[in-house]
This record gives sequence, structure tokens and C-alpha cells, in this order.
Amino acid sequence: MPVATELTIALAKGRILDETLPLLARAGIEPVDDLASSRKLVFATSNKDIKLVLIRSADVATYVQYGAADLGVAGKDVLLEHGGEGLYERLDLKIAPCRMMTAGPAGKTLPRGRLKVATKYPGITRQFFLDQGRQVELIKLYGSMELAPVVGLADIIVDLVDTGSTLKANGLAPLDHIMDISSRLIINRASLKMKNRPIRELVDRIENALKRP
Ligand code: PRP
Repeated sequence: MPVATELTIALAKGRILDETLPLLARAGIEPVDDLASSRKLVFATSNKDIKLVLIRSADVATYVQYGAADLGVAGKDVLLEHGGEGLYERLDLKIAPCRMMTAGPAGKTLPRGRLKVATKYPGITRQFFLDQGRQVELIKLYGSMELAPVVGLADIIVDLVDTGSTLKANGLAPLDHIMDISSRLIINRASLKMKNRPIRELVDRIENALKRP
């Protein structure tokens, strides 16, 4: 039986991609086309055995879980929400570092009792307030969380904070620091067995590239 050597890496457009591409280039993997300007979703690379697929960040863990991609780069936020089934988290790439925080209207006292919390991260949020022993009403949103307290949809939000400028621009202030977040290299568990050698070689190259920025 021929040894499977072809690898697919799932990446997400945006901040993570911008920081992952230079890292992959240092590891000797460069897409043949310009990912940013192309409408394509599958890209050949300078290595004939490695291709890249571009998907939504929240879908990276799912593609890797089912083996549609052998490896992927996903934020710890996405991995925690996904649950990590079928995945092996191999490297902290230290890419797109930010903080998961609660935030509320600046200078305003929060109402007593059951808080309304808007978030794209119900799993992380539920766990955080459970650990605090505080009952909250979760309102699931898909983006622009900062708007929710402004229009009275929620008392506070749980969201990623980097520079803090999005919070500030919307009259919000950070409250509790829930956890630090960064992007991780994840591997499909079955691929790791079936394609152990090419995956190990690739991970070594990425690990070495991480050490020499
Ligand atoms: C993230 C996050 C905040 C913002 C924080 O959104 O959800 O809105 O960045 O960054 P800052 O503290 O530097 O202002 P992103 O732009 O990644 O888009 P998203 O809403 O689709 O996640």
C-alpha cells in the first residue's frame, strides 16, 4: 500500500492568516497564488505534497476533526468552543495573541441579579460564570458584540480584546480577564497515525521556524 504523504492545512482568513503565512514561508511552504486577492479556497504550495484550504475561523476545528484537513491553525477560543474532539493540539504558535474578557458600559454600575451576557462564545462564557457561581442569561451573537450593551440587548459582553480600541470606540470598558488566547496548530488524530512521518517533518519545520522569527 502506498504511504500517504499529501497533507492539507486549513487556515482562516484575517488576522490569523496574515501571521501564519510568514511562519509557513519560513518553514518552506509558500502558496503559489496570492491568497488575499484570490477567490479560490484551495491553494497549491511550493511543496507539491502540501495544499492549503481557506475557511472561516470557526470551521477550522471541524474540518480537522473530520479529517477534511490534516492540520489547521485555529484560535484557542475556537478550540474551546469546538470541544477538541478528534483533534490533537500540538503547538502554541503565539499567533494573534489576545485576551478573552467580559466588558460593560464604561463608568456604569452593573444591575444586580441575573446579568444578560451577549457573546459569540457560549461555551467559554457558560463555564466562566459557572466557576463564579453566578447565574446569567446568555444571548448568542455571531459578531459585533460591542453593540449589544449600547442598544440594551445585553448588560455585558464576552469577547476577544486585543488593543481595546473596539471596546473604547463603543463606550465599553474591560472588566474580567477570562483567559489569554492565541492560535494553535491542530492535527487530526487519525492523520497523525496514517501520515505520521510527513506530519512530524512538517511540525518540526514549523517548530524550527517559530524559534527563528
Ligand atoms: C475582534 C474582537 C473584537 C476586536 C478586538 O474582532 O471580536 O471586536 O477584534 O480588537 P481590539 O481590542 O484591538 O479592538 P475581529 O476584528 O477579529 O472580527 P470578528 O468580530 O469577526 O471576530
